[in-house]
Amino acid sequence: MILDLKGIYKNYQAGDMEVPVLKNIDLQVKEGDYLSIMGPSGSGKSTLMNIIGLLDKPTSGTYLFDGINIADQNDHSLSSIRNKGIGFVFQNFNLMPRETALANVELPLLYAGVKKRKRREIATAALEKVGLADRMKFYPTQLSGGQKQRVAIARAIVNTPKILLADEPTGALDSRSGDQVMELFSTLNSEGVTIVMITHEKSVADCADKIVVIYDGELMSLGEYNERGQAQRSRQANTASAKKLTLEKTETQQQGGNDNG
Ligand SMILES: Nc1ncnc2c1ncn2[C@@H]1O[C@H](COP(=O)(O)OP(=O)(O)OP(=O)(O)O)[C@@H](O)[C@H]1O
Ligand SMILES: [Mg+2]
Repeated sequence: MILDLKGIYKNYQAGDMEVPVLKNIDLQVKEGDYLSIMGPSGSGKSTLMNIIGLLDKPTSGTYLFDGINIADQNDHSLSSIRNKGIGFVFQNFNLMPRETALANVELPLLYAGVKKRKRREIATAALEKVGLADRMKFYPTQLSGGQKQRVAIARAIVNTPKILLADEPTGALDSRSGDQVMELFSTLNSEGVTIVMITHEKSVADCADKIVVIYDGELMSLGEYNERGQAQRSRQANTASAKKLTLEKTETQQQGGNDNG
């Protein structure tokens, strides 16, 4: 199991108040899985991603990353697990603007202490893999959005991480570039890369093998989410028709009043 989260809670302190953002999250991801996490804005998607990506710690619960209990690790070992084990892809690419595509992709290898010649060799192969062999020397401003995201993906996979984490990877792209990025994810997954992807869009989420939904800090299956939505809609419909009835009654009463007057 690469990710094993049990009973994860995350509270944020806002003034005197403790705000629960993640509630009793259980999530397991195996090697080779391709999972997407959907949910409305503010439901806790990025908070969960930050915890999965070892950028933040849960308030309570157990999280094992590749069998390692995260609670027992200090900041130094957490960042080393993160650098070796996790590739990140963000909505806004997060490339270094003053570095070429090649230098951007080489960066994680530099942190990992890989020698210059080897760095170049691995980064070049990663850029070829994402279809950018002819854009190695380009700066981010000279690349389209889709190309920038593909550079970011090359950077994310260059260390052969255990898992690729993506937060709205197609959010800033037109649909054609978005499709290319999704094709690339599918190819990587078929080659064994484990992927966890956050997205608002059902059509994007459908590219994964499995979809879960986070709603108001709770993780649930798509089926459960739809059932809850239906229950809520019928409650709202009941409230609306109740209001309508009250309104009609008032109008009748008013009419009655007018007739009398
Ligand atoms: N540092 C913080 N302090 C207090 N509350 C926070 C903090 N970070 C996030 N929150 C709250 O946690 C909730 C979830 O935020 P999060 O960023 O995880 O949402 P999201 O699902 O990623 O939304 P979006 O789709 O808009 O990116 C929000 O209600 C937010 O106000
Ligand atoms: Mg978010």
